[in-house]
Amino acid sequence: MCGIVGYVGSGDTAGVLLSGLARLEYRGYDSAGIAIINDTGESCLRKSSGKLAQLRKLLESSPAIAGSTGIGHTRWATHGGPTDENAHPHYSEDGSVVLIHNGIIENFAQLRDELADVKLQSETDTEVVAVLLGRELAIVGDLETAFRNVVKRLKGTFTLLAAAVSEPGKIVSARHHSPLVIGLGEGESFLGSDVAAFVEHTRRAVAVADDRIVVITADGVTVTDFDGNLAEVSEYEIAWDPAAADKGGWPSFMAKEISEQPAAVADTIRGRVNDGVVDIPELAALGDEYLQRVNRIVILACGTAAYAGMIGRYAIEEWARVPVEVELSHEFRYRNPIFDANTLVISVSQSGETMDTLMAVNFAREQGLKTISVCNTQSATIPRESDAAIYTYAGPEVAVASTKAFLSQIVALQLLGLHLARVRGALTTEAHRETVAELQTIPDKVAEVVAVHKQVKELAHWMANTNSVLFLGRHVGFPTALEGALKLKEIAYIHAEGFAAGELKHGPIALIDHGQPVFVLVPSPRTNSVMHSKVVSNIQEIRARGARIIAIVETGDTAVLPFADDVIRVPLTDVLFEPLLQVVPMQWFALELSTVKGLDVDQPRNLAKSVTVE
Ligand code: G6P
Repeated sequence: MCGIVGYVGSGDTAGVLLSGLARLEYRGYDSAGIAIINDTGESCLRKSSGKLAQLRKLLESSPAIAGSTGIGHTRWATHGGPTDENAHPHYSEDGSVVLIHNGIIENFAQLRDELADVKLQSETDTEVVAVLLGRELAIVGDLETAFRNVVKRLKGTFTLLAAAVSEPGKIVSARHHSPLVIGLGEGESFLGSDVAAFVEHTRRAVAVADDRIVVITADGVTVTDFDGNLAEVSEYEIAWDPAAADKGGWPSFMAKEISEQPAAVADTIRGRVNDGVVDIPELAALGDEYLQRVNRIVILACGTAAYAGMIGRYAIEEWARVPVEVELSHEFRYRNPIFDANTLVISVSQSGETMDTLMAVNFAREQGLKTISVCNTQSATIPRESDAAIYTYAGPEVAVASTKAFLSQIVALQLLGLHLARVRGALTTEAHRETVAELQTIPDKVAEVVAVHKQVKELAHWMANTNSVLFLGRHVGFPTALEGALKLKEIAYIHAEGFAAGELKHGPIALIDHGQPVFVLVPSPRTNSVMHSKVVSNIQEIRARGARIIAIVETGDTAVLPFADDVIRVPLTDVLFEPLLQVVPMQWFALELSTVKGLDVDQPRNLAKSVTVE
């Protein structure tokens, strides 16, 4: 889950690599490096532990050479700690090739045994591949053949980029279960882990299928399979506006992305409602007859996307009347799951590259199941390997902690629920239209709740020394509470837990002590009076034991006022849409607590946005 970028052309190679790495830093940021080769066969390599800023500093004191060919890497350590030595790129022992890698080489130990005579500079699996490539190049004399021979010997997951001092103007690359895209410019070509690596230079991209070898020069690209047979490729235009991947004056990407949520929701709905009724054109590929036959849905996802799945489940079951299970992708395929031909698998992934989810989707496909991908990244691996893709149009999400993608994932699943309900005749047209009409008001309501920032900021500053926060919710409020807790863990490094409010008395209530902050997501008294009164009782139970209550309540609900220390108001909506509003103050809270603690909001320790290892 590192970020990789490659460039061949007459531009400022170091500049292209650094700006690409800056946009890929979300993939890992414990070290970074670049290597450049010029047309006379000179090479230079600069790398440093720490974030990209460290590499930039190094380049100020020790600038890179100019040259047409460059590769860059930002790392999330797997093999070997985050040191200068373990940072990529790596030279072969004779310095004839430089190489970068994203993934894990599983037969590293066997390959290393072959190189017993070599003193390696690092503890990485990557350097072993660089050394093997240098040796193979010395034997066969041409980079592409040498690379192909080495790649065929590798097991595990990898995207590799390599260049040779003897062949400037060329980068060879390979992908096996790890992402790679090509960018086509005028007299220049790019490679990247995703299009963010080069979107400021070109909007023309080529998706690369798995198990491909790609060779780029300034004039073009060649894509083959591992045996050298030419492969078909499809070019597409990148829909993202490059400016969307900049902070645009905000103090952090996360702040910007929280504020972009109204648009993320509106854009995800757009084009999927026809005359007041949901019709998702992308689902036509599956056929209505199949969708009518579906007797069970399994949603697969990790992290925030899994909580979106849990929230989506309520809507799909309610509207389409199909049983839905939500399972963490990495748990799914190792427990011999039971399904039949009418089980539909829906994956949810912002990046579309999460290895655990990709493997689970592949497993489902091998069992003959149909798969739908809910994804935010055009032409990512998971949507390409699924039977249908419902894109969430949140735009590029850079902060590691997911916000706008989360809201758009929930909305995409809700649209899917309404689409299924229509096809299966599970909802009256009147109820369908009323629900859609309410959904269409959500962007404006999200905008209202984005504006609670100031109130939440004061609360967070006041609670700066808190070291534990609990979150309670019922029904859709339960996964929303889990997401609130996850945000706080991720970026403020505070112990936080989400609970189903009804579960409290079965154990967690023992945690409640004097002053323990508890966020409570209070359901609407209008649409769910029974749940509302139960949550109000839960508040009283914990309040009586000294908890400090921060209640997130619908505007106009006064029932909690006597028992809450703080009340955050959200606009009125239907119960199934409440998470889209209630989560926003919790996102701001995590952001502000992280900020007040002086932490890096966008790049929290130990995490990466896109986890492309299992
Ligand atoms: C990582 C990120 C999480 C994210 C999860 C799933 O763990 O740190 O923020 O929710 O991956 O990512 P995906 O791209 O599949 O939605």
